[in-house]
Amino acid sequence: MVKIDTVRALNAALVRKQPLVAVFFGGTGGIGHYTLRALATAEANGGKGFRAYIVGRNAKAAEEIIAECRGINATGQFKYIKAEDLSLIHEVDRICADIIQMEEKEGQDARIDYLMVSQGGSIFLPRKDTKEGIDFTMALMYYSRMRAILKLLPLLLKSTLPARVISVYAAGIEAKLYPDDLSLRDLSHYSYSQARSHMVYMHTLFMETLEEQYRGKLVLVHIFPGLVPGPGFSNPELPKWFRVVWRWVFIPIFGRLATVPPNDCGARMLSLASPRYPPRAIDGGAKSEGEVATGTDGTPGSGVYSLFWDGESNRNQKAYAKINKDEMKKKVWEHTMKAFEVIEAGGVFTE
Ligand SMILES: NC(=O)c1ccc[n+]([C@@H]2O[C@H](COP(=O)([O-])OP(=O)(O)OC[C@H]3O[C@@H](n4cnc5c(N)ncnc54)[C@H](OP(=O)(O)O)[C@@H]3O)[C@@H](O)[C@H]2O)c1
Repeated sequence: MVKIDTVRALNAALVRKQPLVAVFFGGTGGIGHYTLRALATAEANGGKGFRAYIVGRNAKAAEEIIAECRGINATGQFKYIKAEDLSLIHEVDRICADIIQMEEKEGQDARIDYLMVSQGGSIFLPRKDTKEGIDFTMALMYYSRMRAILKLLPLLLKSTLPARVISVYAAGIEAKLYPDDLSLRDLSHYSYSQARSHMVYMHTLFMETLEEQYRGKLVLVHIFPGLVPGPGFSNPELPKWFRVVWRWVFIPIFGRLATVPPNDCGARMLSLASPRYPPRAIDGGAKSEGEVATGTDGTPGSGVYSLFWDGESNRNQKAYAKINKDEMKKKVWEHTMKAFEVIEAGGVFTE
Protein backbone atom coordinates (compact mmCIF):
# COMPACT_ATOMS: atom_id res chain seq x y z
CA MET A 1 0.00 0.00 0.00
CA VAL A 2 1.24 3.46 -0.87
CA LYS A 3 0.96 5.37 2.40
CA ILE A 4 -1.17 8.50 2.34
CA ASP A 5 1.82 10.64 3.47
CA THR A 6 3.78 9.35 0.48
CA VAL A 7 0.80 10.18 -1.76
CA ARG A 8 0.70 13.75 -0.49
CA ALA A 9 4.46 14.14 -0.91
CA LEU A 10 4.21 12.84 -4.51
CA ASN A 11 1.47 15.39 -5.19
CA ALA A 12 3.46 18.25 -3.68
CA ALA A 13 6.43 17.36 -5.91
CA LEU A 14 4.18 16.99 -8.96
CA VAL A 15 2.61 20.46 -8.74
CA ARG A 16 5.99 22.10 -8.04
CA LYS A 17 7.50 20.53 -11.13
CA GLN A 18 5.41 22.31 -13.78
CA PRO A 19 2.02 23.96 -14.39
CA LEU A 20 -0.65 21.37 -15.12
CA VAL A 21 -3.58 21.13 -17.52
CA ALA A 22 -6.17 18.65 -16.31
CA VAL A 23 -9.45 17.42 -17.79
CA PHE A 24 -12.14 15.68 -15.75
CA PHE A 25 -14.87 13.77 -17.61
CA GLY A 26 -17.28 13.15 -14.72
CA GLY A 27 -15.85 16.11 -12.78
CA THR A 28 -19.31 17.25 -11.61
CA GLY A 29 -19.50 14.61 -8.89
CA GLY A 30 -17.82 11.91 -6.85
CA ILE A 31 -14.23 10.93 -7.61
CA GLY A 32 -13.75 13.47 -10.42
CA HIS A 33 -14.75 16.21 -7.97
CA TYR A 34 -12.49 14.83 -5.20
CA THR A 35 -9.50 14.68 -7.56
CA LEU A 36 -10.04 18.23 -8.79
CA ARG A 37 -10.22 19.35 -5.15
CA ALA A 38 -6.99 17.48 -4.39
CA LEU A 39 -5.33 19.27 -7.32
CA ALA A 40 -6.52 22.69 -6.10
CA THR A 41 -5.32 21.83 -2.57
CA ALA A 42 -1.87 20.65 -3.65
CA GLU A 43 -1.48 23.64 -5.97
CA ALA A 44 -2.34 26.04 -3.13
CA ASN A 45 0.87 24.96 -1.38
CA GLY A 46 3.55 26.08 -3.79
CA GLY A 47 2.20 24.75 -7.11
CA LYS A 48 3.07 26.29 -10.46
CA GLY A 49 -0.57 26.84 -11.47
CA PHE A 50 -3.19 24.88 -13.41
CA ARG A 51 -6.08 24.91 -15.86
CA ALA A 52 -8.90 22.44 -15.24
CA TYR A 53 -11.72 21.45 -17.58
CA ILE A 54 -14.78 19.96 -15.89
CA VAL A 55 -17.21 17.89 -17.95
CA GLY A 56 -20.62 16.67 -16.73
CA ARG A 57 -24.36 17.23 -17.07
CA ASN A 58 -25.11 19.00 -13.80
CA ALA A 59 -24.28 22.70 -14.27
CA LYS A 60 -25.28 23.59 -10.69
CA ALA A 61 -22.94 20.96 -9.26
CA ALA A 62 -20.15 22.27 -11.51
CA GLU A 63 -20.75 25.81 -10.27
CA GLU A 64 -20.59 24.70 -6.62
CA ILE A 65 -17.46 22.60 -7.18
CA ILE A 66 -15.70 25.47 -8.95
CA ALA A 67 -16.65 27.88 -6.13
CA GLU A 68 -15.32 25.39 -3.56
CA CYS A 69 -12.04 24.94 -5.47
CA ARG A 70 -11.63 28.69 -6.00
CA GLY A 71 -12.02 29.04 -2.24
CA ILE A 72 -9.07 26.67 -1.83
CA ASN A 73 -6.99 28.11 -4.65
CA ALA A 74 -7.90 31.43 -6.26
CA THR A 75 -5.20 31.26 -8.94
CA GLY A 76 -6.36 28.14 -10.79
CA GLN A 77 -8.40 28.43 -13.98
CA PHE A 78 -11.62 26.41 -14.11
CA LYS A 79 -13.67 25.84 -17.25
CA TYR A 80 -16.96 23.96 -17.23
CA ILE A 81 -18.22 22.17 -20.33
CA LYS A 82 -21.80 20.97 -20.13
CA ALA A 83 -22.42 17.44 -21.37
CA GLU A 84 -25.84 16.24 -22.46
CA ASP A 85 -25.13 12.51 -22.37
CA LEU A 86 -21.64 11.04 -22.42
CA SER A 87 -22.96 7.59 -23.30
CA LEU A 88 -23.11 8.93 -26.87
CA ILE A 89 -19.91 8.90 -28.91
CA HIS A 90 -21.09 11.92 -30.93
CA GLU A 91 -21.43 13.85 -27.67
CA VAL A 92 -17.92 12.83 -26.56
CA ASP A 93 -16.62 14.06 -29.93
CA ARG A 94 -18.38 17.41 -29.55
CA ILE A 95 -16.96 17.94 -26.08
CA CYS A 96 -13.43 16.95 -27.08
CA ALA A 97 -13.60 19.38 -30.02
CA ASP A 98 -14.67 22.13 -27.56
CA ILE A 99 -11.79 21.32 -25.20
CA ILE A 100 -9.28 21.34 -28.07
CA GLN A 101 -10.62 24.67 -29.33
CA MET A 102 -10.53 26.26 -25.86
CA GLU A 103 -7.08 24.88 -25.09
CA GLU A 104 -5.62 25.94 -28.45
CA LYS A 105 -6.32 29.54 -27.44
CA GLU A 106 -3.38 29.05 -25.08
CA GLY A 107 -1.12 28.93 -28.18
CA GLN A 108 2.21 27.10 -27.74
CA ASP A 109 1.18 26.09 -24.26
CA ALA A 110 -1.87 24.03 -25.35
CA ARG A 111 -1.75 20.51 -23.96
CA ILE A 112 -3.33 18.06 -21.50
CA ASP A 113 -1.16 16.60 -18.74
CA TYR A 114 -3.82 14.73 -16.79
CA LEU A 115 -7.05 13.24 -18.15
CA MET A 116 -9.46 11.57 -15.75
CA VAL A 117 -12.42 9.65 -17.15
CA SER A 118 -14.84 8.68 -14.37
CA GLN A 119 -18.21 9.24 -16.03
CA GLY A 120 -20.93 6.79 -15.10
CA GLY A 121 -21.97 5.30 -11.84
CA SER A 122 -25.28 3.58 -12.59
CA ILE A 123 -24.73 -0.10 -12.02
CA PHE A 124 -27.02 -3.14 -12.14
CA LEU A 125 -28.98 -1.72 -15.08
CA PRO A 126 -30.38 -4.23 -17.57
CA ARG A 127 -28.92 -4.12 -21.08
CA LYS A 128 -30.25 -1.09 -22.92
CA ASP A 129 -28.83 0.13 -26.22
CA THR A 130 -28.07 3.77 -26.89
CA LYS A 131 -29.30 5.11 -30.21
CA GLU A 132 -25.75 4.47 -31.47
CA GLY A 133 -26.13 0.73 -30.73
CA ILE A 134 -23.95 0.27 -27.62
CA ASP A 135 -25.18 -0.93 -24.23
CA PHE A 136 -25.65 2.22 -22.09
CA THR A 137 -23.54 0.99 -19.16
CA MET A 138 -20.70 -0.18 -21.40
CA ALA A 139 -20.93 3.04 -23.44
CA LEU A 140 -20.40 5.20 -20.35
CA MET A 141 -17.74 3.16 -18.63
CA TYR A 142 -15.71 1.87 -21.58
CA TYR A 143 -16.46 3.13 -25.11
CA SER A 144 -16.97 6.83 -24.30
CA ARG A 145 -13.81 6.81 -22.20
CA MET A 146 -11.59 5.25 -24.88
CA ARG A 147 -13.11 7.64 -27.42
CA ALA A 148 -12.25 10.66 -25.24
CA ILE A 149 -8.64 9.44 -24.98
CA LEU A 150 -8.34 9.00 -28.75
CA LYS A 151 -9.95 12.34 -29.56
CA LEU A 152 -7.76 14.20 -27.04
CA LEU A 153 -4.53 12.51 -28.17
CA PRO A 154 -3.28 15.59 -30.06
CA LEU A 155 -3.23 17.51 -26.75
CA LEU A 156 -2.14 14.58 -24.58
CA LEU A 157 0.91 14.02 -26.78
CA LYS A 158 1.98 17.62 -26.22
CA SER A 159 2.44 17.07 -22.50
CA THR A 160 6.02 16.98 -21.31
CA LEU A 161 4.99 15.17 -18.11
CA PRO A 162 4.22 12.88 -20.18
CA ALA A 163 0.43 12.78 -20.03
CA ARG A 164 -1.40 10.54 -17.62
CA VAL A 165 -4.81 9.06 -18.40
CA ILE A 166 -6.78 7.69 -15.45
CA SER A 167 -9.96 5.66 -15.89
CA VAL A 168 -11.77 5.04 -12.62
CA TYR A 169 -13.81 1.90 -12.60
CA ALA A 170 -13.21 -1.71 -11.55
CA ALA A 171 -9.63 -2.66 -12.51
CA GLY A 172 -8.63 -6.17 -11.48
CA ILE A 173 -12.19 -7.59 -11.56
CA GLU A 174 -11.78 -9.50 -14.85
CA ALA A 175 -13.83 -12.72 -14.76
CA LYS A 176 -15.50 -14.50 -17.67
CA LEU A 177 -14.87 -13.32 -21.23
CA TYR A 178 -16.92 -14.02 -24.37
CA PRO A 179 -14.34 -13.33 -27.10
CA ASP A 180 -16.94 -13.59 -29.88
CA ASP A 181 -19.52 -11.42 -28.15
CA LEU A 182 -17.57 -8.47 -26.78
CA SER A 183 -20.71 -6.28 -26.94
CA LEU A 184 -22.70 -8.92 -25.00
CA ARG A 185 -25.54 -8.84 -27.54
CA ASP A 186 -26.63 -12.35 -26.62
CA LEU A 187 -28.90 -11.58 -23.68
CA SER A 188 -28.08 -14.92 -22.07
CA HIS A 189 -24.52 -13.54 -21.69
CA TYR A 190 -25.60 -10.18 -20.26
CA SER A 191 -25.60 -9.18 -16.61
CA TYR A 192 -24.04 -6.13 -14.97
CA SER A 193 -21.16 -8.18 -13.54
CA GLN A 194 -20.52 -9.79 -16.93
CA ALA A 195 -20.51 -6.35 -18.59
CA ARG A 196 -18.09 -5.16 -15.89
CA SER A 197 -15.78 -8.11 -16.60
CA HIS A 198 -15.73 -7.28 -20.34
CA MET A 199 -15.15 -3.59 -19.71
CA VAL A 200 -12.20 -4.31 -17.43
CA TYR A 201 -10.56 -6.72 -19.89
CA MET A 202 -11.16 -4.22 -22.68
CA HIS A 203 -9.58 -1.41 -20.66
CA THR A 204 -6.33 -3.33 -20.22
CA LEU A 205 -6.20 -4.70 -23.76
CA PHE A 206 -7.10 -1.41 -25.49
CA MET A 207 -4.74 0.60 -23.28
CA GLU A 208 -1.84 -1.78 -23.97
CA THR A 209 -2.32 -1.41 -27.74
CA LEU A 210 -2.50 2.36 -27.46
CA GLU A 211 0.63 2.45 -25.33
CA GLU A 212 2.51 0.43 -27.98
CA GLN A 213 1.56 3.05 -30.56
CA TYR A 214 2.76 6.00 -28.47
CA ARG A 215 5.53 4.33 -26.51
CA GLY A 216 7.10 6.53 -23.87
CA LYS A 217 4.66 9.37 -24.53
CA LEU A 218 1.63 8.24 -22.59
CA VAL A 219 0.77 6.56 -19.30
CA LEU A 220 -2.58 4.75 -19.12
CA VAL A 221 -4.06 3.70 -15.80
CA HIS A 222 -7.28 2.04 -14.78
CA ILE A 223 -8.10 1.76 -11.13
CA PHE A 224 -10.60 0.31 -8.69
CA PRO A 225 -11.01 3.25 -6.28
CA GLY A 226 -12.32 1.28 -3.31
CA LEU A 227 -15.68 2.18 -1.81
CA VAL A 228 -15.74 5.96 -1.83
CA PRO A 229 -18.84 7.60 -0.33
CA GLY A 230 -20.38 10.18 -2.63
CA PRO A 231 -23.49 11.28 -4.48
CA GLY A 232 -23.24 8.24 -6.80
CA PHE A 233 -24.65 6.03 -4.04
CA SER A 234 -27.94 7.94 -3.93
CA ASN A 235 -28.33 7.95 -7.72
CA PRO A 236 -32.03 7.13 -8.35
CA GLU A 237 -30.95 4.93 -11.29
CA LEU A 238 -29.45 2.46 -8.77
CA PRO A 239 -31.81 -0.30 -7.60
CA LYS A 240 -33.68 0.71 -4.44
CA TRP A 241 -32.39 -2.35 -2.51
CA PHE A 242 -28.82 -1.24 -3.18
CA ARG A 243 -29.41 2.33 -1.98
CA VAL A 244 -31.19 1.08 1.16
CA VAL A 245 -28.47 -1.46 2.00
CA TRP A 246 -25.73 1.13 1.41
CA ARG A 247 -27.32 3.87 3.52
CA TRP A 248 -28.94 1.94 6.35
CA VAL A 249 -26.82 -1.20 6.67
CA PHE A 250 -23.38 -0.88 5.09
CA ILE A 251 -22.41 2.64 6.16
CA PRO A 252 -23.69 2.42 9.78
CA ILE A 253 -22.03 -0.98 10.34
CA PHE A 254 -18.82 -0.83 8.31
CA GLY A 255 -18.64 2.94 7.75
CA ARG A 256 -15.13 4.29 7.85
CA LEU A 257 -13.45 0.91 8.14
CA ALA A 258 -14.51 -0.25 4.71
CA THR A 259 -14.52 3.02 2.78
CA VAL A 260 -11.87 5.34 1.37
CA PRO A 261 -12.39 8.93 2.60
CA PRO A 262 -13.10 11.27 -0.34
CA ASN A 263 -10.09 13.52 0.35
CA ASP A 264 -7.72 10.53 0.46
CA CYS A 265 -9.27 9.12 -2.70
CA GLY A 266 -8.79 12.43 -4.55
CA ALA A 267 -5.17 12.70 -3.40
CA ARG A 268 -4.49 9.09 -4.45
CA MET A 269 -5.97 9.68 -7.91
CA LEU A 270 -3.81 12.77 -8.41
CA SER A 271 -0.67 10.90 -7.33
CA LEU A 272 -1.10 8.56 -10.32
CA ALA A 273 0.54 11.36 -12.32
CA SER A 274 3.74 10.96 -10.30
CA PRO A 275 6.95 9.20 -11.41
CA ARG A 276 5.82 6.14 -9.44
CA TYR A 277 3.74 5.31 -12.55
CA PRO A 278 6.13 6.14 -15.39
CA PRO A 279 5.80 5.75 -19.14
CA ARG A 280 7.63 2.71 -20.49
CA ALA A 281 11.30 3.66 -20.90
CA ILE A 282 12.35 3.69 -24.54
CA ASP A 283 15.77 2.14 -25.25
CA GLY A 284 18.39 4.67 -24.28
CA GLY A 285 15.79 6.90 -22.60
CA ALA A 286 15.78 7.98 -18.97
CA LYS A 287 14.58 5.42 -16.47
CA SER A 288 12.32 6.50 -13.63
CA GLU A 289 14.02 6.89 -10.26
CA GLY A 290 12.62 5.68 -6.96
CA GLU A 291 9.93 3.09 -6.42
CA VAL A 292 8.00 2.17 -9.56
CA ALA A 293 4.66 0.35 -9.89
CA THR A 294 4.29 -2.92 -11.78
CA GLY A 295 2.47 -2.61 -15.10
CA THR A 296 -0.21 -4.80 -16.67
CA ASP A 297 2.43 -6.91 -18.45
CA GLY A 298 4.06 -7.79 -15.12
CA THR A 299 7.16 -5.62 -15.55
CA PRO A 300 7.90 -2.54 -13.45
CA GLY A 301 7.10 0.75 -15.16
CA SER A 302 5.52 -0.67 -18.31
CA GLY A 303 3.34 2.42 -18.95
CA VAL A 304 -0.08 0.72 -18.48
CA TYR A 305 -1.26 0.06 -14.93
CA SER A 306 -4.18 -1.82 -13.37
CA LEU A 307 -4.40 -0.61 -9.79
CA PHE A 308 -6.14 -1.24 -6.51
CA TRP A 309 -7.41 1.76 -4.51
CA ASP A 310 -4.15 1.87 -2.53
CA GLY A 311 -2.00 2.55 -5.59
CA GLU A 312 -0.58 -0.97 -5.88
CA SER A 313 -0.91 -3.21 -8.93
CA ASN A 314 -3.90 -5.58 -8.95
CA ARG A 315 -2.96 -7.23 -12.25
CA ASN A 316 -5.26 -10.22 -12.58
CA GLN A 317 -2.72 -12.83 -13.69
CA LYS A 318 -5.16 -15.75 -13.46
CA ALA A 319 -7.62 -14.15 -15.87
CA TYR A 320 -4.99 -13.36 -18.53
CA ALA A 321 -3.42 -16.82 -18.22
CA LYS A 322 -6.68 -18.22 -19.60
CA ILE A 323 -6.74 -16.16 -22.81
CA ASN A 324 -4.48 -15.57 -25.80
CA LYS A 325 -3.62 -12.01 -24.86
CA ASP A 326 -2.08 -10.95 -28.17
CA GLU A 327 -5.05 -12.26 -30.11
CA MET A 328 -7.51 -10.59 -27.73
CA LYS A 329 -5.63 -7.28 -27.89
CA LYS A 330 -6.08 -7.24 -31.65
CA LYS A 331 -9.72 -8.28 -31.36
CA VAL A 332 -10.59 -5.63 -28.77
CA TRP A 333 -8.80 -2.91 -30.71
CA GLU A 334 -10.54 -3.79 -33.97
CA HIS A 335 -13.92 -4.14 -32.26
CA THR A 336 -13.63 -0.76 -30.53
CA MET A 337 -12.33 1.08 -33.58
CA LYS A 338 -15.09 -0.48 -35.73
CA ALA A 339 -17.72 0.77 -33.29
CA PHE A 340 -16.26 4.29 -33.51
CA GLU A 341 -16.02 4.14 -37.32
CA VAL A 342 -19.64 3.01 -37.76
CA ILE A 343 -20.99 5.59 -35.31
CA GLU A 344 -18.86 8.41 -36.70
CA ALA A 345 -20.29 7.65 -40.16
CA GLY A 346 -23.80 8.09 -38.71
CA GLY A 347 -24.59 4.38 -38.42
CA VAL A 348 -25.69 2.14 -35.58
CA PHE A 349 -23.13 -0.36 -34.26
CA THR A 350 -24.51 -3.88 -34.34
CA GLU A 351 -21.47 -6.19 -33.87
N1 LIG B 1 -17.47 5.58 -5.65
C1 LIG B 1 -17.20 4.28 -5.50
O1 LIG B 1 -17.21 3.75 -4.38
C2 LIG B 1 -16.84 3.44 -6.68
C3 LIG B 1 -16.41 2.12 -6.43
C4 LIG B 1 -16.05 1.34 -7.52
C5 LIG B 1 -16.14 1.84 -8.81
N2 LIG B 1 -16.60 3.12 -8.99
C6 LIG B 1 -16.71 3.60 -10.38
O2 LIG B 1 -15.93 4.75 -10.52
C7 LIG B 1 -16.56 5.67 -11.42
C8 LIG B 1 -16.71 7.01 -10.74
O3 LIG B 1 -17.45 6.81 -9.55
P1 LIG B 1 -18.07 8.04 -8.74
O4 LIG B 1 -18.33 7.55 -7.37
O5 LIG B 1 -17.25 9.25 -8.95
O6 LIG B 1 -19.46 8.21 -9.51
P2 LIG B 1 -20.51 9.43 -9.39
O7 LIG B 1 -20.37 10.12 -8.09
O8 LIG B 1 -21.82 8.83 -9.75
O9 LIG B 1 -20.00 10.43 -10.54
C9 LIG B 1 -20.10 10.09 -11.87
C10 LIG B 1 -19.87 11.29 -12.76
O10 LIG B 1 -20.29 10.92 -14.08
C11 LIG B 1 -21.22 11.88 -14.57
N3 LIG B 1 -22.20 11.17 -15.40
C12 LIG B 1 -22.94 10.09 -15.07
N4 LIG B 1 -23.73 9.73 -16.09
C13 LIG B 1 -23.47 10.59 -17.10
C14 LIG B 1 -23.95 10.75 -18.42
N5 LIG B 1 -24.88 9.92 -18.94
N6 LIG B 1 -23.47 11.75 -19.18
C15 LIG B 1 -22.56 12.60 -18.67
N7 LIG B 1 -22.04 12.51 -17.43
C16 LIG B 1 -22.48 11.51 -16.66
C17 LIG B 1 -21.84 12.49 -13.31
O11 LIG B 1 -22.19 13.83 -13.44
P3 LIG B 1 -23.54 14.48 -13.99
O12 LIG B 1 -24.66 13.84 -13.28
O13 LIG B 1 -23.33 15.94 -13.75
O14 LIG B 1 -23.52 14.21 -15.45
C18 LIG B 1 -20.65 12.51 -12.36
O15 LIG B 1 -19.85 13.65 -12.64
C19 LIG B 1 -17.87 5.04 -11.83
O16 LIG B 1 -17.71 4.36 -13.05
C20 LIG B 1 -18.13 4.03 -10.73
O17 LIG B 1 -18.89 2.93 -11.18
C21 LIG B 1 -16.94 3.92 -7.96
